[in-house]
Amino acid sequence: MESQIKDIVAAYFSKDSIENIGIFNGRVIITLQNTAEDQVKTAEIEKKIKELPGIDKVSLIYTKTKEAPSLQPEIEKWLVRNVRKIVAVASGKGGVGKSTTAVNLALALAKLGQKVALFDADIYGPSIPTMLGFEGIAPISYDGKTFEAFEFHCIKSMSIGTLVDRSQPLIWRGSKACGAIEQLLTDTNWGEIDIMVIDMPPGTGDIQITMSQRLSLSGAVIVSTPQDIALIDAVKGVNMFRRVEVPILGIIENMSYYICPHCGMRADIFGHEGAKTTSAELNVPFLGEIPLHMDIRTNADNGTPIVLSAPESPHSKAYLDIAQKLLDQLK
Ligand SMILES: Nc1ncnc2c1ncn2[C@@H]1O[C@H](COP(=O)(O)OP(=O)(O)OP(=O)(O)O)[C@@H](O)[C@H]1O
Ligand SMILES: [Mg+2]
Repeated sequence: MESQIKDIVAAYFSKDSIENIGIFNGRVIITLQNTAEDQVKTAEIEKKIKELPGIDKVSLIYTKTKEAPSLQPEIEKWLVRNVRKIVAVASGKGGVGKSTTAVNLALALAKLGQKVALFDADIYGPSIPTMLGFEGIAPISYDGKTFEAFEFHCIKSMSIGTLVDRSQPLIWRGSKACGAIEQLLTDTNWGEIDIMVIDMPPGTGDIQITMSQRLSLSGAVIVSTPQDIALIDAVKGVNMFRRVEVPILGIIENMSYYICPHCGMRADIFGHEGAKTTSAELNVPFLGEIPLHMDIRTNADNGTPIVLSAPESPHSKAYLDIAQKLLDQLK
């Protein structure tokens, strides 16, 4: 009888977890070194044992208490008022086109009917003011406490660059940089925003980790060029967000290829499809490729990114296509 009972219990729990089986006058008491989490299992075991001849009562006693919840305090999130979703645009490596991508994606999302904000958190090289045309303009505050977000080209925007003198080297320590970013994010009047795009500082250091923990991110987009050296850093970026449980919305391959404006020949200057392969290896979506093109650079430098200045160009379409993919994922 005891071995039959043991077999029934072992179908649900490991044999080793059975501490004792007591049978007294048609009553069975089983002590199990386990937690009593699964009511269904308990009911099924009791039912099956009761079907054995001469058994009319079964009790299962679980001797392991539920594990105490982790004592680590919940990380307090930065409260960015009236902003529904926040997406970080990041890159492990600098100079791969993160800001160009962030600004064009923000504009593309606005074209798709979203109320968009773009926040420039790049303390090392804030470039959104140049790309949107508010370089050198100080933000307005009506109450002396909060800033009004800039509104250029139908998107709201604010840059850490408005707090620093760009001609001076910035030597903020991590905590100071994070404090400034938090303050500017939380003390800006954004209005009602569907999606905020954040141009993150390049790299995966303390500031970036703190930001990805403190912001309530809906996801992160990683920008990379196709070379191995950039892709290694892109993997670091993906892993950083994964560690803090931020979903990776995908990888974008920037400067993916070059079409000669004279002969139309295509050249894969930095290689090609490296980001696509890496996305597949990491099991994250590949969002698309943006070519290396003079117009993308000049228009960004002039404060009218390509999505605005040449909305019908294939480059703008590439950004719109990626923006649509992001929206689909964020739904
Ligand atoms: N697809 C592209 N075609 C042509 N030029 C590009 C493209 N993407 C970016 N650039 C140019 O490359 C330079 C670097 O781009 P960007 O400033 O966006 O990179 P970043 O990753 O934000 O750099 P940083 O790490 O310094 O912030 C800029 O001059 C930009 O205009
Ligand atoms: Mg940048």
